Amino acid sequence: MKTAFSADQLSRPEVIRNPYPYYDLLRDQSPVFGYRDFPPGTMPGVDEPKPSWVVLNFDDVAAVAWDHDSFSSRDSLQEESSAPSLMLVNHDRPEHTRLRKIATKVFQPASIKSLAPAVDALVTKTMDDFFTTDQTIDVMAEYCAMLPSRVMAYLFGMPENMDHDVRNWASAFMLSADIYPEERQAYNEEAMGFFAEHVREHIDRIAKGQNTPGPLLNAFIRTEVDGDSLSFEEIVRFCMTATVAGAETTSFYLGNLIAVFADFNDIWQGFVEDPTLFDAIYKETLRFHGPPQRLFRVATRDITIGNADIKRGDWVACFFGAANYDPETFPEPYEFQLNRKNANRHMSFGYGIHRCLGAPLAQLEAESTARMLRDRYKQIERAGEAVWQDVSLLNHGLHSNPVIFRARD
Ligand code: HEM
Repeated sequence: MKTAFSADQLSRPEVIRNPYPYYDLLRDQSPVFGYRDFPPGTMPGVDEPKPSWVVLNFDDVAAVAWDHDSFSSRDSLQEESSAPSLMLVNHDRPEHTRLRKIATKVFQPASIKSLAPAVDALVTKTMDDFFTTDQTIDVMAEYCAMLPSRVMAYLFGMPENMDHDVRNWASAFMLSADIYPEERQAYNEEAMGFFAEHVREHIDRIAKGQNTPGPLLNAFIRTEVDGDSLSFEEIVRFCMTATVAGAETTSFYLGNLIAVFADFNDIWQGFVEDPTLFDAIYKETLRFHGPPQRLFRVATRDITIGNADIKRGDWVACFFGAANYDPETFPEPYEFQLNRKNANRHMSFGYGIHRCLGAPLAQLEAESTARMLRDRYKQIERAGEAVWQDVSLLNHGLHSNPVIFRARD
């Protein structure tokens, strides 16, 4: 198997389901050329993936992600496709600096913290809607799919019943749903059309002095840095970006966290006895079951990484998921350990100027979910095979995650 496996096989379903042993087979050769896969937003079946370098080792992944001058985040494939290109994620400096300054003010810690009561209320409602005790529940189908979508719908002041639309738009864009290209394109157009109209109405209402729901959308509209603010078009694309960047990854993350509780009873029991363990569990779950496995960059100049002579214009796939399992940085990577001294170094939120802006919001949703599970249940039992999705390496997450919740006495 060691000699037979090559980079072009990384998109096979069995690899997507459990990529880590396959990364190990390629680690010695990394960076290695020959992987082909689709960046977010593009259309499998319409767009043609570019062959790319595969970067697997922690130091090399960090070097690529850190060096934003040599490795551009602009995605020509996405720009040429019918998909909207994302704010920040697909921008380089100087545009990135300008947008990030405004977005950092929008996502400032105090603002995110003030969302905690609303997130708690949505967690309670979503658990009430979908959880029962002593019965098998697939937490992916309902709770994990719907909570981040409901949070997004709330943050944008959308009608509550649009949570399913948010869900569909995010999975179509992030390639995690196995759907036809026409359907994918229709979802992208529907999302952009909705947000354009919604933002316009919102701005009109603000101009008339009316109250508007949707704290994140209000902040996108009102936030100014040094007299600079977002244009109408930028606000619309920020809504799309936060939807696709925030809903899908968080859904998979919540599923992965519940899988940790169901599959490692000692971790669950430890958390029940000592809730301050949450922080360590949260971080180690991000390393152990991090959702984003890889994202692309394009070399802006000839550059050598390890033994690889990367040419200007070459595509480079940065495997954050493989960095999280690099034994040089995380000894015994296949073990879930709560006492890692470098737990903070996981790469699941990226690295460098593009590091995830929504991480505190994802943490809020995860922390609230864990706290309420602990309040309600004494045990979370695995009730059937946890099946990992095998459509795209963009996110490592579960397709189905059946568990049984046992109520507290
Ligand atoms: C567990 C959940 C999440 C994970 C694992 C995650 C992961 C990531 C990663 C790996 C990046 C870096 C992209 C790159 O280097 O090209 C990123 C960027 C980003 N994320 Fe997240 N994300 C999560 C949740 C969220 C949420 C909830 C939001 C927003 C509401 C969000 C908004 C963003 C934005 C706007 C960027 C772009 C930052 C920039 O390019 O400057 N993310 N995220």
